[in-house]
Amino acid sequence: MHALLPGPDLDDDTLISHYARPDRPTLRVSFVSSADGAMEIDGLSTALSGPDDKRVFGVLRMLADAVLVGAGTLRRENYRPIRLSPPRVEWRRAHGLPDFPTLVTVSRSLDLDPAMPALADAPVRPLILTPSPESRPDLSAVADIVRFHDHDLLPGVRARGLDHILCEGGPHLLGTLLAADAVDELCLTVAPVLAGAGASRIVTGPISAARRLRPAHVLRGGEHLMIRYVRAS
Ligand SMILES: NC(=O)c1ccc[n+]([C@@H]2O[C@H](COP(=O)([O-])OP(=O)(O)OC[C@H]3O[C@@H](n4cnc5c(N)ncnc54)[C@H](OP(=O)(O)O)[C@@H]3O)[C@@H](O)[C@H]2O)c1
Repeated sequence: MHALLPGPDLDDDTLISHYARPDRPTLRVSFVSSADGAMEIDGLSTALSGPDDKRVFGVLRMLADAVLVGAGTLRRENYRPIRLSPPRVEWRRAHGLPDFPTLVTVSRSLDLDPAMPALADAPVRPLILTPSPESRPDLSAVADIVRFHDHDLLPGVRARGLDHILCEGGPHLLGTLLAADAVDELCLTVAPVLAGAGASRIVTGPISAARRLRPAHVLRGGEHLMIRYVRAS
């Protein structure tokens, strides 16, 4: 047993090294949860976040080829176009990456507004993954629509060379990914708040087998804990 706190302040380079891109294709999932396991307060994750959680969130986006998000979260959290600060764009260029990660969303209903800024103003043409055969020319004008079958979401993403995928939720999408045993990492921020009864967990949907993880690091930022879990072999 080890005492982890307090530790030294982390500069940006050290923080980035804690989340370095593995040398194989990876699906990394990022969530913030209350201390009692809730993933939202009043329907949004905003009240659970904090400045250092946002800093890690920015680092995770900077390191990703694609940001994967369920349509429910895209709609509810009013997603903005995925852009990065100039220093983060510089970092990507220096590491041979395109300026911005690609937004990838998943929808069965295709009930998405093509005018929503996350799609219409995206700096990189987004992907919409769907099992639906429906044709939506208005959505095709702003994004590539990619069909998938049998809950196997990722082949159409990987086929575009997007190897390092960051999933930002939400709980239904995580349920699908866990059912497919596709999760390689969970970057979980624990907020110092008890949300109380009624709020949902970070995962819902089909029953899946338990997946064992091991902690790769635990950081403290302000009053939040940031835990990076990786698959236990
Ligand atoms: N605490 C956190 O870090 C965090 C992170 C993300 C979200 N959240 C919270 O999560 C809540 C939203 O929950 P949610 O369950 O609606 O989120 P979600 O999982 O992002 O969205 C669910 C929707 O995504 C689509 N989808 C997911 N899996 C699919 C699959 N396998 N095949 C086809 N479509 C699929 C469907 O879209 P269609 O309905 O378009 O068919 C489904 O209704 C919000 O309150 C948000 O604040 C919290």
